[in-house]
Amino acid sequence: MPQPDTRPTAWSKLAEELDRLRGVSLRALFAEDTGRAERDVLSVAGLRLDWARQRLDAPAWNSLYALAESSGAMVALKRQREGVHVNTTEDRAALHLALRLPREDTCIVDGRDVVGDVHAVLDAIEEFVQAVREGRHLGYSGKPIRSVVNIGIGGSDLGPRMVCRALAPFAPAMRGGEPLRMHFVSNVDGGALDAVLREVDPETTLFVVASKTFGTQETLTNARSARAWLLRHTEHPEAVARHFVAVSTHSERVAEFGIDTRNMFGFWDWVGGRYSVWSAIGLPIALYLGMDGFRGFLAGAHEMDQHVLASPARENAALRMALVDIWNHNMLGACARVVLPYDERLQLLPAYLQQAEMESLGKGVLHDGSPAEHDTGPLVWGAVGTDGQHAFYQLLHQGTRWAPTEFIGVARPEHGLPEHHPILLANLVAQAEALAFGKTGAEVAAEMAAEGLPNEVIAHLVPHRSFPGNRPSTVILLERLDVRSLGALIALYEHKIYLLATIWGINAFDQWGVELGKQLAGRVQEDFAAEGRGIHPHDPATAATIDWLRARLPER
Ligand code: F6P
Repeated sequence: MPQPDTRPTAWSKLAEELDRLRGVSLRALFAEDTGRAERDVLSVAGLRLDWARQRLDAPAWNSLYALAESSGAMVALKRQREGVHVNTTEDRAALHLALRLPREDTCIVDGRDVVGDVHAVLDAIEEFVQAVREGRHLGYSGKPIRSVVNIGIGGSDLGPRMVCRALAPFAPAMRGGEPLRMHFVSNVDGGALDAVLREVDPETTLFVVASKTFGTQETLTNARSARAWLLRHTEHPEAVARHFVAVSTHSERVAEFGIDTRNMFGFWDWVGGRYSVWSAIGLPIALYLGMDGFRGFLAGAHEMDQHVLASPARENAALRMALVDIWNHNMLGACARVVLPYDERLQLLPAYLQQAEMESLGKGVLHDGSPAEHDTGPLVWGAVGTDGQHAFYQLLHQGTRWAPTEFIGVARPEHGLPEHHPILLANLVAQAEALAFGKTGAEVAAEMAAEGLPNEVIAHLVPHRSFPGNRPSTVILLERLDVRSLGALIALYEHKIYLLATIWGINAFDQWGVELGKQLAGRVQEDFAAEGRGIHPHDPATAATIDWLRARLPER
């Protein structure tokens, strides 16, 4: 009879490491091994990644590397690069990295080398961007374009919106003196589009309607209203062709909507929505920064791709990021991760990463449909420091729950008040230090005694003023925030996500979890519009909510 395999699995080995490290504080780990401050740091593509404040020691790292090896994580990255259909439920490749390959490279998807197609679209984008930026593409009344409104949602919004915000200091002036004015409308709430339309001039505004499927209700509703607004300002229906371009994989739907497909920039089904910022979805970035800027962004990502695909485990930034997440979420039990950019320009990074990570890793079943064996993606949230410090850090420092934090800082500012910068970055460094090392009761008591406070006050306040510490963080520092480093940073997260999905055995590239709500919203809309008590059966709570709203919704 075959004997059961009693060899320790990589996961059980990790559990042993956890037992060994239980009760070992970060203070103790640093006291034992000062070398960790150098060993747990990597510098890649203008980024310095520092995991020294993670609750891990060298043997625990080794067990994590063994887990990566046994789950075939690095092999999976290579298979992804080779065009294997890693998106198993939609039977597709996931090849966003092909979008940033140099022209002379190759990447075969379903038997076709797609690099030529990618560069043909980039060249078409370049031609259009130059025509807009040089004032050759004119609005219906003969004036050059001054404002761009991107209409899209999710992956068709968050990437370009975040990148344009982050790289605003590098946006070159157009012919005529000023950078393009960029607007982004995603929410179907009419207030969002209305606010933008009040700010822009129909004669000088270009609308980019961005939707991979060109079937997304929010986007199409906003695009229709924007087109109606334009046509209220001009009697010429041909104005639409000068003021609307589409970005999509779906040319029939674009044509059906009424945008000439000559004004469409395409991409492919092997580009996932949340991984599409590198495709024509990045058109607003190219318009705003110029084509050199957009190509630089792609080159930064490509530099990271090369690093991740070629580096051994210990020197591999994406793998180490993934393994730290495994440790924090699967071993230490954290159910959230907090992203804290100490740079106003990265204000939208937490929202961008929320989609990238939570839509990719929020899965409960393995590729074969059986339940996941380990907890999968954490909740991801965050805000720019120092705002967060004055809002939610209290809980991070002293709450009964904890979450690992990811600090992101930039060494060189690009603004006119450089004297603020040391203050900003001192806060980043101090927060990571405070979370890791805390302040003991004895330290608090000594400090208060030195202030001359009476013993009974000290005894009363010590528990309130002590910090447990031992709360892990990663510190990511950028030399500068520019096209290259931002491209590299985003690509790093993308690879981390896929490595995590591989270790957990889940599909990082589908998003079935968004469908039920969409389907039910369609029915509720029909009930809102119907006479009498509506047409679809609902539970009593839903029915009562619909009734209450039906009595109050504006007449159409
Ligand atoms: O609803 C989720 C989603 O499908 C995302 O994955 C996607 O980025 C977004 O909607 C927008 O989709 P599209 O680009 O097709 O309009």
